[in-house]
Amino acid sequence: MARPKRFRIHHVAEAKAQGRPLTMLTAYDALTAPIFEAAGVDMLLVGDSLGNVVLGHPSTLQVTLADMERATGAVARSVERVMVVADLPFGTYEADSTRAFDNAAVLMRAGAHAVKLEGGAARAQTIRLLTQGGIPVMGHLGYTPQSENALGGPRMQGRGQAAERLFEDACALQEAGVFALVLEMVPDDIASRITRELSVSTIGIGAGPHTDGQVLVWSDMAGMGDWAPSFVQRFGEVGAALGEAARAYVASVSERSFPSSGHYKEH
Ligand code: KIV
Repeated sequence: MARPKRFRIHHVAEAKAQGRPLTMLTAYDALTAPIFEAAGVDMLLVGDSLGNVVLGHPSTLQVTLADMERATGAVARSVERVMVVADLPFGTYEADSTRAFDNAAVLMRAGAHAVKLEGGAARAQTIRLLTQGGIPVMGHLGYTPQSENALGGPRMQGRGQAAERLFEDACALQEAGVFALVLEMVPDDIASRITRELSVSTIGIGAGPHTDGQVLVWSDMAGMGDWAPSFVQRFGEVGAALGEAARAYVASVSERSFPSSGHYKEH
């Protein structure tokens, strides 16, 4: 049987040209990634949100390259069609472009088809080195969680005069060779302008409806927890459904109705 066609960087550009919205969700394991692939997403982001969502850290700053390598491998091994984009974690790419290349290569060897890194014009040299070396790079502007301490916590970026700086950073990343750009927590008007005036595809999270695509952290999208950022829509109540299944299991075991003779055979 023919293998499904892999979603690649030229498909990202084609989607923008055709006005077809791009869809991306985070994934961190081999359990959820195939579910999202079967649902039809174009790209899975092995985000460093892994730190908060899966590993119980207070932020993304504690996430290591080894954490990302393991999660990227698990996601990549469990899908056939989607593009797998892996985050370069904090401290692995900012200070030295050569080291950034070596660290990106670790994630590519684990199965990623592209890497994502945070920051503006200061990252241009690193992006050039990676793309020239055959590693597609997705940029990330606006609220960049790895800089949460410098930015004063999760808050909208690019308001007022800061909008021009954001636009210049987006131009610098496009010029350096990114194939797509995540815009996180920025006003709709600057997200629209970047999307309209740049040829590179934009993927928004808390950036309004006019970007070329959208990304959400899957557990927020699916309603796993009680809290999610205000820009998130809950598309399910998976946390409640899981809790209900676990409660039914506990009750069945407690009252000895599971396993019943129908569930158990002596071999
Ligand atoms: O790590 C992540 O989940 C991200 C998204 C919020 C874009 O970078």
